[in-house]
Amino acid sequence: MVSTIEWTPAGVVMIDQRKLPAETTFKVCRDPEDVADAIRTMVIRGAPAIGCAAAMGVALGVQQADGEDIDGQVDQVCDLLASTRPTAVNLFWAIERMRTLYRSLRSSGVEIGEIRKRMADEACRVLDEDIAANRALGVHGANLMPEGATVMTHCNAGALATGGYGTALGVIRAAVEGGNAVTVLANETRPFMQGSRLTAWELQQDDIPVTLVTDSMAGHMMQRGYVQAVVVGADRIAGNGDVANKIGTYSVAVLAKENGIPFYVAAPTSTVDLSLASGQEIPIEERATDEVTQIRGHQIAPEETRVRNPAFDVTPNRYVAAIVTEQGIARDPYRPALERLVAQANAPKGDAD
Ligand code: MRU
Repeated sequence: MVSTIEWTPAGVVMIDQRKLPAETTFKVCRDPEDVADAIRTMVIRGAPAIGCAAAMGVALGVQQADGEDIDGQVDQVCDLLASTRPTAVNLFWAIERMRTLYRSLRSSGVEIGEIRKRMADEACRVLDEDIAANRALGVHGANLMPEGATVMTHCNAGALATGGYGTALGVIRAAVEGGNAVTVLANETRPFMQGSRLTAWELQQDDIPVTLVTDSMAGHMMQRGYVQAVVVGADRIAGNGDVANKIGTYSVAVLAKENGIPFYVAAPTSTVDLSLASGQEIPIEERATDEVTQIRGHQIAPEETRVRNPAFDVTPNRYVAAIVTEQGIARDPYRPALERLVAQANAPKGDAD
């Protein structure tokens, strides 16, 4: 399984996801500005992965802050990282976790050298906990996969999109590890092609059978009985169970319901935003128009064409059969179920029921 991101003495090292599958190259981020740039330009992408990157970006900022106003500099780093992408809540969750620890260490009078070390340790813990969460949710989700099913997925919610192992692809991996010979139908995921470039590549690395289709083929494949379940990841899940995920997910969910196919969402509890009453409140990122008008620098639309490029959409909870987290599975009614799972995740170790 590929390593998405690592904390090293040279800096934060990330596989450059813009170059896959043609080239496997790595970017070394030596300061928080490099990390912010890598998130914005999608060197690293996927909600949990950008959370891990942001945590490491804050840790780098604390290593490098110096002089009279260290606290002000750390705040600026947090604000910079928070300005990179608006939709995935894991980004803000990770920044707040790091900022809270920093403030508590400062107010306890811990010496700055020790704070620098503990912040680096905490960033590595964010990464390790994400991988552990994905393995746990994978096991819960694997139980939902019919024997030998063909499972459709959209975008890339795999090892590349997380600290490792993946959410939607974590469910697939756990099913395969448990002896269930599922196969994957990957939607290519216009316009950034996370399905064709990343999901197909990642599953091939693990010898998990994968067939690629264009997004417009999803309905036909379902109608003809080629799909037994859908599993996707999430960028933010509102308190009522509405799910923001990669653009096109909503269409897949509606098609799944029309065709009587269960539509599952796999995400760690760090993706749940209980402060939002519904998905209508989730900010949707609009990205540059050339992602739509060009493919690899090649113009595919007339110059000056008016373009919209929303990067995410919201699937209303009525289309979601279950939300699989590391703490267990939530079903309708979602608010009490999600509240319970998030409380379990936040309980001091040993208190969880
Ligand atoms: O724009 P991206 O590639 O960051 O969008 C990623 C997705 O929408 C994923 O499905 C989501 O972040 C879940 S990743 C485990």
